[in-house]
Amino acid sequence: MMPKDRGPFSGQNKLIIMAHLLILSLLLYSATAGSINGRNKDSCVSRCGESLNHNYNCQCNSACGRHGDCCQDYNICKSRTSCQGRCNEAYDHTNPCHCNSKCNQYHNCCQDYYSQCGVSNPEIGFTNQEILSVSEQIYSLDINKATANDIRLNLQGHVSDSQTGAKIDYAQQRLYAFVNEDVLFSKPTFAKFIALLDNYHRMTDVPEKFSPEQLGEEDAFIKEIMKTPIMNKLYSVLHSKNLYNSVTEFEKDLKMMWFGLYSRARDIDILDSSGFEHVFSGEVKRGKVSGFHNWVRFYLAEKNNELNYYSYNYKGAWTNYPEVLAMQFNWNGYFKEVGSEFIGSSPEFDFAIYTLCFIAKPNKSCTVSLGGNTMNIQTYTWTKSTYGNGKKYVASSFPLTP
Ligand SMILES: *[C@@H]1O[C@H](CO)[C@@H](O)[C@H](O)[C@H]1NC(C)=O
Repeated sequence: MMPKDRGPFSGQNKLIIMAHLLILSLLLYSATAGSINGRNKDSCVSRCGESLNHNYNCQCNSACGRHGDCCQDYNICKSRTSCQGRCNEAYDHTNPCHCNSKCNQYHNCCQDYYSQCGVSNPEIGFTNQEILSVSEQIYSLDINKATANDIRLNLQGHVSDSQTGAKIDYAQQRLYAFVNEDVLFSKPTFAKFIALLDNYHRMTDVPEKFSPEQLGEEDAFIKEIMKTPIMNKLYSVLHSKNLYNSVTEFEKDLKMMWFGLYSRARDIDILDSSGFEHVFSGEVKRGKVSGFHNWVRFYLAEKNNELNYYSYNYKGAWTNYPEVLAMQFNWNGYFKEVGSEFIGSSPEFDFAIYTLCFIAKPNKSCTVSLGGNTMNIQTYTWTKSTYGNGKKYVASSFPLTP
C-alpha cells in the first residue's frame, strides 16, 4: 500500500494542479478578452441579429433579452431601419432592411447603408448613360460661368504632347489677356472660393494648420455652392440613389471628401494635403507642381506674378465657356508639365462635375457630356487613409486630355 501522501492528489501534487488550473483559466480569460475578426467581444457593432455565438462575451439577437446576455450596447441593434452599428451584419429576416453587401442585389438595403457603411460604389451605381445625362444637366445649369466677353485668352505657343516636358517658355505674354473680375469674382460662389485659396502651404511635408476663420471659410463655401442649381441637381441625383438622405448629410460628406486632411508626406503623421488643396489650390511635391487644376487659381497666380505660362498642348472644341486647356507653366520655380483644367467655369461647376465622377466612377476615367461634346474626367481615390466607415478622400480629379 502506497503511503497516503504519495497519491495522485497528494498535497504537493494538488498545489501543482491548482497552479496549472490557474494558468489555464488565465489563458482562457485572455482568449475571451479583445476581439474576434476585428469585432469587439463585448459589443454589438456589426453583430446585430447574429445567432448565438459563445466566442463572444455577450449576444446581440432578439433572444438575448430573455437570456439576459445582451451586450451593453445592444440598443444600437434596436433601430432596425438604420445601418448604424449594423454594417456587414449577418442576414436576419426579421429586420425591415439590411446592411451587408448582398442588399444591393436584393434591393433591401437600409436608406443609410451607403453612408453608414462607407460603400461609395454601389453595384446599382451609375450607368454610363446616366453620367452623360447628369453631366449635361450640370453643364446647362451653370448660371455663374463666364460669358464669351468675360475672358480673353492669349494662347501663344502650342507644343505637341511629346514636347510638354521641354520647359521652354513659348509665351512672352500672360495666358489671360483679360478677365472680367468685377462681374465674375463678385459672384458669391467665386468670392467664397477665392477666400479659400490662401489657406494652404503648397509644399508637401509641411502640415496644414487652419484658424477657426479658415475652417469657417470651408463651411461657407459649401453652404454657398449648395444654393446653386448645379449642386441642387447633383444632390437630388445622389439622393435618388439613396447615397444621401439629407442635404446636411451631403454637406458633411463633401466636407470630409474634399477638405479632410491626409498625408502625402514622407512622415505619414504630417497631415499636409487634401483633395481640395491638391485639385483647386495646387501643391509642390518632390520639386514638381502636383495637382493645380483650376482656372481662377491660375489666373490669380499669373496676375500676382507667381506663375509664368509657357505653352499649351491641348485646347477643347467648345465655342463658349467652359473650355478645356492643358498647359505647361512654372509656378514660382516649380514646373507643371501638363496641367489640365476647365476655363471659365464656375467653382460649383468644377466641384459638381468632379464630385459626380468621384462618386460614380471612383479612381477611373469618367465620360461626361458637356454641351453635346463628350470628354473624360479622371479621378483618383486616396488609398492610404479613410474617414467615417472606410470612405475615401479625393486624391485628385482633372480633365483627361487626349
Ligand atoms: C486607384 O488607381 C491607382 C492607379 O491606377 C491604383 O494604384 C490604386 O490602387 C487604385 N485604388 C483603388 C482603391 O482601387
